[in-house]
Amino acid sequence: MLTLRGVGLNLNGDNGDAKEILKNINLTFESGKLYAITGPNGGGKTSIAKVIMGIYQPTEGQIIFEGEDITNLSITERARRGLAYAFQQPPRFKGVYVDEVMRIANPDIDEMGIRSYLRDVGLCPEDYIGRDLGSSLSGGETKRLEVAQLLAKDAKITIFDEPEAGVDLWTIQKLISVIAGRHRGNDQKTAVIISHNEQFLPMCDEIILVADGEIQEQGPSAAIWPLIRDDIICDCRIRNQCGGGMIEAQQYR
Ligand SMILES: Nc1ncnc2c1ncn2[C@@H]1O[C@H](COP(=O)(O)OP(=O)(O)OP(=O)(O)O)[C@@H](O)[C@H]1O
Ligand SMILES: [Mg+2]
Repeated sequence: MLTLRGVGLNLNGDNGDAKEILKNINLTFESGKLYAITGPNGGGKTSIAKVIMGIYQPTEGQIIFEGEDITNLSITERARRGLAYAFQQPPRFKGVYVDEVMRIANPDIDEMGIRSYLRDVGLCPEDYIGRDLGSSLSGGETKRLEVAQLLAKDAKITIFDEPEAGVDLWTIQKLISVIAGRHRGNDQKTAVIISHNEQFLPMCDEIILVADGEIQEQGPSAAIWPLIRDDIICDCRIRNQCGGGMIEAQQYR
């Protein structure tokens, strides 16, 4: 469904010097599956999402969606083709109301639909439907609303950037079931979840481990998750610094 071929990304750092953010990223996302992208802070996870969405233009490589080269398409054109992204830090527009952003996400939605999506992410519609985004929502509520918007959008490929960030433990399980329920086994849909969460990672079909702008591991979560769990105990193994070395991803395929 979506393929990244040899994608590289250079961006200018604060001192104006070009910095290599992504190196030779090769990935394929198939429909009906849930993918997790994980790895250390600053490793390049959000940059991969932004390259897919057209927010960053890759320095090299190609992005192919349903057989079409979309590398040079605008953000809007990619959205029209069915790509959607929930920001790691959702913007908070003052004077915009919860029901309005849900209608922007899906203009065909009625009030019952809005209520249902809000309930899916644990936001009681009576309390939230008329709330102003800019001033009154907490960080976790804003994050949950962003997930509700993407669920309403019902895109072909949906990228959730740390949907669990700032969200309470009770709601995380709810988010997992609703995202999995919508995407797993649906041959029209793919979910890509950027996450550090130990509840999210094992329930995805595949895990992609990104560090230092490169893919370090990828494969079925049953094989990769135990490695990551061990790496959390010895973080330097991710970075190949303590002699443990990375275990060859090939052996899990
Ligand atoms: N616009 C930019 N200009 C310069 N450097 C950038 C820019 N965006 C990201 N970077 C750098 O690229 C690297 C990767 O950032 P990215 O946001 O992709 O990491 P991440 O894996 O999502 O991290 P986190 O887990 O903290 O969200 C970081 O070193 C970051 O400082
Ligand atoms: Mg990030």
